[in-house]
Amino acid sequence: MSAAGNPAAAAAATEEIPLARPVLGEAEEAAITEVLRSGQLSLGPRVPAFEAAFASRIGVPHASAVSSGTAGLHLALRAVGVSDGDEVVTSPFSFVASANVVLYERATPVFADIDPRTLNLDPDAAAAAITDRTAALLPVHIFGYPADLPAFERHGLPIVEDACEALGAVHADGTAVGGRGHPAAFGFYANKQLTTGEGGMLTLGSDAHKETIDSERNQGRAPDMGWLDHDRLGFNYRLSDLACAIGLAQLDRLDDMLAARARVAASYRQALAPLAAERGLALPCEDTGGNRRGWFVFVVQLPHGVDRDETIRALRELGVQSKPYLPAIHLMSFYRERLGHRPGEFPVCEDVAARSVALPFFPELSEGQVARVAEALSRVLG
Ligand SMILES: Cc1ncc(COP(=O)(O)O)c(C=O)c1O
Repeated sequence: MSAAGNPAAAAAATEEIPLARPVLGEAEEAAITEVLRSGQLSLGPRVPAFEAAFASRIGVPHASAVSSGTAGLHLALRAVGVSDGDEVVTSPFSFVASANVVLYERATPVFADIDPRTLNLDPDAAAAAITDRTAALLPVHIFGYPADLPAFERHGLPIVEDACEALGAVHADGTAVGGRGHPAAFGFYANKQLTTGEGGMLTLGSDAHKETIDSERNQGRAPDMGWLDHDRLGFNYRLSDLACAIGLAQLDRLDDMLAARARVAASYRQALAPLAAERGLALPCEDTGGNRRGWFVFVVQLPHGVDRDETIRALRELGVQSKPYLPAIHLMSFYRERLGHRPGEFPVCEDVAARSVALPFFPELSEGQVARVAEALSRVLG
């Protein structure tokens, strides 16, 4: 039956395609109901259960559940000893939280330019930015593509990994991203590969980091201390049992969700190939050298000279959501004012950031919807 004779198909053909949509179902509902009935909504058994399952999935000795990816990054920086007056070398092409957490500890984020292919922190640029005040390196696995950890490890400095976008990614040597023993923060906001609504997880190789982080996320209380006894400064960065129960259910379906995301990415690659070849649209880099992306977003770079805002507006008129992703952190007004950054400092990042557009991307995006997005982009780019 044609779409004209089938109201459901006609509606599907014109319905706005959202940017992201989580996969949630009966397993998550059952998990929440069970926690509600148990009466133990926080500090209960789902927290260590989720941590153990996550640590085992990544292949590390420990994991600590936290209230967000940002909270995880903050605790990780504290755990590796970043404090007042230190410098942390990091990427300007990231979500703002990876730089903000450095400022939380009164240290300075020192940006270095990115690799134009992977869009991750360029190891040579990072090396050139290291000074005797550098207390840590904070590479970001942007858009789920593994950062070049071996290159950063050569400096012998503490490393904190921003793996908030990179669940499911694998390094060239077969190690899961987050599995190299450095504190690595994952994020579970609703658009992520695995969601708990809000939330995060730190993967950890060190017993000492596990102990400090578990205490600091819980107001500075050690496991053997009484309810209102605190022996260090802490925060409330706990993740609830409700969230951990959802996380456990999501973990069960993670392989399917990651495979579905990879399928959608492959469909996009095929559907957008003509625009890449004929119009210079840049697609996410292919996996190379054994590195494997954990698909999080599908971000394209518009050809030079194309008006991005106008493109996003025109796509919306055709029923396709999209957004600029990501803006360069150093050019945000707060960072310009606070650290005196100016355009031109990180040319690769600035060029990529000015042209990047995230397209709708989630496991249940259908072939038909991918085709609609490609058709809309093709019309808009002319
Ligand atoms: C690269 C990156 N870092 C950090 C974060 C912060 O994670 P959360 O929103 O869970 O605090 C995000 C989340 O979007 C992110 O994409």
